[in-house]
Amino acid sequence: MVELALPKNSQIEPGRSWARPEGANNLKEFRIYRWSPDDDQNPRLDTYYVDLDDCGPMVLDGLLWIKNSVDPTLTLRRSCREGICGSCAMNIDGTNTLACTKGMDEVEGPVKVYPLPHLPVVKDLVPDLTNFYAQHRSIEPWLKTTTPAPEKEWKQSHEDRARLDGLYECILCACCSTSCPSYWWNGDRYLGPAVLLQAYRWLIDSRDEATGERLDHLEDPFRLYRCHTIMNCTQACPKGLNPAKAIAEIKQMMVERRV
Ligand code: SF4
Ligand code: SF4
Ligand code: FES
Repeated sequence: MVELALPKNSQIEPGRSWARPEGANNLKEFRIYRWSPDDDQNPRLDTYYVDLDDCGPMVLDGLLWIKNSVDPTLTLRRSCREGICGSCAMNIDGTNTLACTKGMDEVEGPVKVYPLPHLPVVKDLVPDLTNFYAQHRSIEPWLKTTTPAPEKEWKQSHEDRARLDGLYECILCACCSTSCPSYWWNGDRYLGPAVLLQAYRWLIDSRDEATGERLDHLEDPFRLYRCHTIMNCTQACPKGLNPAKAIAEIKQMMVERRV
């Protein structure tokens, strides 16, 4: 029989179980993915107990309570704590979401926390988003015009501005892209739902004058057409946006410009 050796760091070991806080009787158990590039060990799942009487209600509150009171080496990203910056995106209880808007009481049993899936890990809950940001840059997410700039501002009607609703709110958290099977397997070439939603946001901006050029860039078997309408992206978005619909609209624009 063929023996397959698993790649290094592919196996998650049972980890350390940290002591319960003394005197606390309202506890929530957390099981958290831990991995550091510095200690040459496989990833492990550590168990912690959060004192709910001494902690805010969100999963991010629990993680910060652990970091501040139990284990300062726990590494994660966060900034706004209000669902605006996108930096606390992680996999909680099997779903990609924002730790700062996910209530601990929404999770039955232990809160299982992993980094966003299918991305290289920098450390613990911090994924490497280098490729994701490079892909975002590749769609040139800024206003492109050829007519001379107006003296004051580029104007837009209320109706045209309203067409950007459901698109401009994207916080680039990557929850959608990292829940997309096509992106898991072809993330080096497929742009993924987050970046395609941003591409669509610029394609339909009435002030932008680079629509043809933008569509040319997306006309590629991998960049756009790896979306197979599986819809995981839309289900995952913590801001309630619909990247799958934006992708379908881009495909429609491609068809329309051919006829
Ligand atoms: S609809 Fe497209 S982008 Fe969204 S999860 Fe499915 S394949 Fe990925
Ligand atoms: S579309 Fe939603 S899930 Fe995707 S990056 Fe934007 S805010 Fe995050
Ligand atoms: S900390 Fe900014 S979105 Fe969660």
